[in-house]
Amino acid sequence: MLRRTFLALAASAAAITLGVGAVSAQELPKLKQKDKYKVGFAQTESNNPWRIAQTESMKAEAAKLGHQLVYTDAAGSAAKQVADVNSMIAQGVDMIFLAPREEKPLIPAVMAAKRAGIPVVLLDRNVDQSLAKAGKDYVTFIGSDFVDEGRRAAEALDKATGGKAQIIQLEGTTGSSPANDRRKGFEDYIKNKLGMKIIASQSGDFARDKGRQVAETLLQAHPGATAIYAHNDEMAIGAISALEAAGKKPGQDVQIVSIDGTRDALQAIIDGKMLATVECNPKFGPKAFETMARYAKGEQIEPWVINTDRFFDKSNAGQLIADAY
Ligand code: AHR
Repeated sequence: MLRRTFLALAASAAAITLGVGAVSAQELPKLKQKDKYKVGFAQTESNNPWRIAQTESMKAEAAKLGHQLVYTDAAGSAAKQVADVNSMIAQGVDMIFLAPREEKPLIPAVMAAKRAGIPVVLLDRNVDQSLAKAGKDYVTFIGSDFVDEGRRAAEALDKATGGKAQIIQLEGTTGSSPANDRRKGFEDYIKNKLGMKIIASQSGDFARDKGRQVAETLLQAHPGATAIYAHNDEMAIGAISALEAAGKKPGQDVQIVSIDGTRDALQAIIDGKMLATVECNPKFGPKAFETMARYAKGEQIEPWVINTDRFFDKSNAGQLIADAY
């Protein structure tokens, strides 16, 4: 009897501490079924066509469905993105779509939303899986298989070079899930290929100009490089400028493979300056809001809603460029 009274008191004390609408450490916040929602979308930055296409897709779908979208741009700062999520919580959004810039620094934002009783869906980038879990701390991760993207890029380079390549790797944002996973997928593929070697690897922060600067420095230090693997198209386009400035012919002296499928990359493939790019589709809007509706209905959401991606090379870039972003 005494024990039961103690447990009841402890439970009500926990509820008071958590506040109205809040949830316990174990529970995932629920989403009520409504016609219209106030939804947050916390974007990482807007400095490349991929991010702009993703934002446009989210805004267009929210407008089509009549939902109010609270949009923030963290301008490349994980600290600002955490503050953006906190501001969305203060504004009382029903749900938050978060594209976490880096795997670890966004964990406090995920946990703060959970404590406030607001469900979070991770879009396109993931968080550290040892610190937060789908189905427990956030609803799901919607996005591509970044490891497989890296593997496919390596396979394309392997086929085109007959397994012989001295590779410069331009990595994405340090600590982000696409940079970690694209590196893993590529490196795992080439580890048993004796003729393929990464001779230098450095972050270009997924940005065109940073990619160009890093490629310039690494090409000077490694004039024998025969291939560049860029974790995204923007850095690949930067690398093309660096090669041309160094008097080298991209696509002939140095093969370039990358990931995304932007219009500029498809044009570079058509122009013979780039070998291939593995698609990473940025058009998340329809899938994001469909997942939100399924969750509100009470459906069990799978921990990873996987995007399937195409592959662009000289066999199809000409036909597909009209639809590229
Ligand atoms: O998270 C996806 C990556 O982020 C895209 O490849 C890149 O272009 C973007 O900045």
